[in-house]
Amino acid sequence: MRQIKLQDPMNIRITKTKKSKLGEIDFNNIPFGKYTSDHLFVMDYANGQWDNFRIIPYQGFTLDPQSKALQYCQCIFEGMKVTMGADGIPKLLRPELNIERFNLSAERMCMPAVPEDIFLEALKAIVAFEIDWIPRAEGCALYVRPTMFATENALSVVPSDTYTFYIYTGPAQPYFTTPVKLITEQKLIRAVPGGTGEAKTGGNYAGSLMAGQLAKRKGFDQIIWLESPEFKKIQEAGMMNLFFVIGDTVVTPMLTGAVLKGTTRNYFIDILAEKKIKVEVRDIYVDEILEAYKKGDLKEAFGSGTAAVVSHISEITHGDTRMILPTIEKDFISNMLYDEINGLRSGRIKDSRNWLVPVEANTLTNYTA
Ligand SMILES: Cc1ncc(COP(=O)(O)O)c(C=O)c1O
Repeated sequence: MRQIKLQDPMNIRITKTKKSKLGEIDFNNIPFGKYTSDHLFVMDYANGQWDNFRIIPYQGFTLDPQSKALQYCQCIFEGMKVTMGADGIPKLLRPELNIERFNLSAERMCMPAVPEDIFLEALKAIVAFEIDWIPRAEGCALYVRPTMFATENALSVVPSDTYTFYIYTGPAQPYFTTPVKLITEQKLIRAVPGGTGEAKTGGNYAGSLMAGQLAKRKGFDQIIWLESPEFKKIQEAGMMNLFFVIGDTVVTPMLTGAVLKGTTRNYFIDILAEKKIKVEVRDIYVDEILEAYKKGDLKEAFGSGTAAVVSHISEITHGDTRMILPTIEKDFISNMLYDEINGLRSGRIKDSRNWLVPVEANTLTNYTA
């Protein structure tokens, strides 16, 4: 387990909630995204620096109607999970990947970077503060959402001068529990190379809603995005990266600038390589998947993402062809990957890769209460 040393304490001001919501939560029933914890970490950016570090009761923000966040969608976010280890110490999993991706999103959207030491200290502080909100059951976690939005109020289409960064958290059980049915989308697009698809910014999600809704109406859970204008190259699916097991090889689409750099995708590629399972990161065309299916070589297909870790795929429809995939018990690769990540997070599997970063419960003693 790595100890990441905090730099100078940020002197976070703390205002504790007068009424905790904790007693209202049934930890045996915590659907993903339904509950939020009691507090927010917040800081502001002005005159070229981050300042005004605070933990405050969970509450809304006041935005000017002309705010650049509302008008031009200068906002980005991250999603990550913190779990409670068997040793009673909360653990972050490779937070540097999320911090790096957040700062890449920031760069793409002309927003200021958050220095890694400040980001990590903020994460540790809010998690330590909300320690009682971390569910204990394996597979459950405290979901953590760092977010940044523009706060300048001016109509000009130039980057904002000021920003707010905040982190909220919420206890969550795994997201998808049953295998999902997917359909390829051959008209609408999520992202193109050179666009903003690699950034975790709200506009990408707003733009994807319509295709998701149309797919739902047809009885599918999500869509598979194909790259325009040919609609042959596979990008990703809904809010997850894609993996296919063809014969004895695991393949996943290459990042082309239009696909989100999934952190879970990263864990999986590393674990597969370490276990000497053949893994290829390359362009994948839907015709190849159809062909493999026809030959009986398509053994598994699954999505990867923070929310679900693994989403087993039961069916993929492309045009008139419906590919029915083997049932979950036969998903040897994805079941193994799921078990590796959950086992690692809960402490059941040793952290031999040094991926876990502990959040010491006494982190807050660094700060002025
Ligand atoms: C569009 C999109 N692709 C892929 C992913 C998976 O990324 P990660 O594994 O970092 O959660 C997500 C989820 O964050 C997503 O929103």
